[in-house]
Amino acid sequence: MQADVIVVGSGAAGLTAALSLADKCHVLVLAKGTLTGGSTAWAQGGIAAVLDAGDTFEDHIRDTMVAGAGLNRLETVEHVVSRAPEAIERLIELGVPFNTEGKGLHLHREGGHSHRRIAHVADATGWAVQEALVRAAEAHPNITLLPGQSCVDLITGRHEQRYSGSGRVWGVYALDEASGRVEAHIGRATVLATGGAGRVYQFSTAPRGATGDGIAMAWRAGARVANMEMMQFHPTCLYHLEVKNFLITEAVRGEGGHLINPRTGERFMPQYDERLELAPRDVVARAIDSEIKKYGLDFVHLDISHKPASFVREHFPNIHEKLLSLGIDMTRQPIPVVPAQHYTCGGIITDLDGRTDLPGLYAAGECAESGLHGANRLASNSLLECLVFGSAAAADILARWESFEAPPAINAWDESRVSDSDEEVIIKQNWTEIRRFMWNYVGIVRTTKRLERAAHRIKMLFDEVEDYYGHFRVTTDLIELRNLLQSADLIVRSALKRHESRGLHYTLDYPEIDAEPRDTVLVP
Ligand code: FAD
Ligand code: SIN
Repeated sequence: MQADVIVVGSGAAGLTAALSLADKCHVLVLAKGTLTGGSTAWAQGGIAAVLDAGDTFEDHIRDTMVAGAGLNRLETVEHVVSRAPEAIERLIELGVPFNTEGKGLHLHREGGHSHRRIAHVADATGWAVQEALVRAAEAHPNITLLPGQSCVDLITGRHEQRYSGSGRVWGVYALDEASGRVEAHIGRATVLATGGAGRVYQFSTAPRGATGDGIAMAWRAGARVANMEMMQFHPTCLYHLEVKNFLITEAVRGEGGHLINPRTGERFMPQYDERLELAPRDVVARAIDSEIKKYGLDFVHLDISHKPASFVREHFPNIHEKLLSLGIDMTRQPIPVVPAQHYTCGGIITDLDGRTDLPGLYAAGECAESGLHGANRLASNSLLECLVFGSAAAADILARWESFEAPPAINAWDESRVSDSDEEVIIKQNWTEIRRFMWNYVGIVRTTKRLERAAHRIKMLFDEVEDYYGHFRVTTDLIELRNLLQSADLIVRSALKRHESRGLHYTLDYPEIDAEPRDTVLVP
């Protein structure tokens, strides 16, 4: 299909970009699976913005830089923080029913924030945002929404019928999940808004499709990526034998929840950080990891049962109900929790307009490294990043519209040398293997030896997966496996390059922090 702009991803970043473009041009939005399958719909806590009387932009900027251990780009942090109130305003106009208090919004407090700053819709903010954006996009005559499309690779000058090595991006090849056919979708500009790579880890709060597709596609096409070693682990994912990735929002700690060692019955955060349960995520996740390892525990407890039951039910209705269905009453009992991968801080390098290294290619949201998060994302800053950079990318595309040439003739997808797979077991085996060694060797606490072991396995798997990819027709599983492996490779290579412990990258071999913060930039 041909459109003016191709947007890959229908989460907060993709749909914000589409809606900001659509009054001026025709936008095609492609999504893997359903339109609500990304992380956006799963977000619980909310969106950070300076809205409280005593709060200031300077405080939000400082909190973001402190959480990010100084690796953030100050210019980006200022750019995003100062645009947060208007981003919330736009969502209100789209009908997002934020909780209110008096004349203003009710704000939650979360770890690393020096003020109450989190605008929220109870404990299911992401679903409300996702619904409002989909509703607005469906109603816009200039937006075509096409779910069920697994993008395989970017279309660049190499795919032009008259070959060019320019690196100019013209859209994507995408597998139609229903027909099994791969089609070219072509436009003057392309926006990647494909979310993170969390599923590279065995335990993750992210949805199944978070396989780093956009990051891997951009890398293969020639764009640089940065800070991929900065993988955020959320301290409090539910520990349950069947429900593996249910998040217990940070707001539970923000509203007074305590972390307790189930063996000693004691609150343990006082031993680790003076900010207690509201220290930044990396600190709390490492403290939990340390208690689990020291005492041989399966989990620790998160307890908010000392608060009135009505308060807990009112603030956390969805979590309360979900836990009740699993036999846990959080108004009376502690919740068993463990850390799990949660957010990909690194990604495709972009500037303040969402532009990547490749002409015609933009990136926004979790797949991008805009400089906002540095070495550790401050809670609830990422939906905000999606909203600000989705708009910024759209504004830049419109500003440059006259300079964007019409797409040339593009080669159709070539399937002449592949056949249907007869060994799908290889995909499952490799997928499981990657996620397991990434969890064990490239997790919360790292060593060079373990990273090297992971690198060795990745090297072997590359040959196997590329061989498979070269011989068989693509399926969504195969596309995801290839991207998962590429993402794992970028994470491990970045981690091996950082010879210090900063933010989310903590290694026993280099426990000190360097005087000067430095991005880990990988060049294809
Ligand atoms: P996503 O919303 O993840 O969307 C990605 C889109 O890309 C999807 O439509 C997907 O189908 C599509 N896609 C991916 N690959 C392909 C492909 N190959 N072909 C076609 N389409 C593709 N952040 C906050 O700020 N506040 C919170 O309270 C919060 N809570 C969270 C709770 C959970 C459980 C999780 C997992 C994350 C949370 N986050 C939160 C993080 C935040 O939700 C995400 O960072 C953000 O939603 C990412 O939005 P996005 O638009 O970049 O990507
Ligand atoms: C949470 O609700 O704890 C998640 C917030 C975030 O990831 O920003």
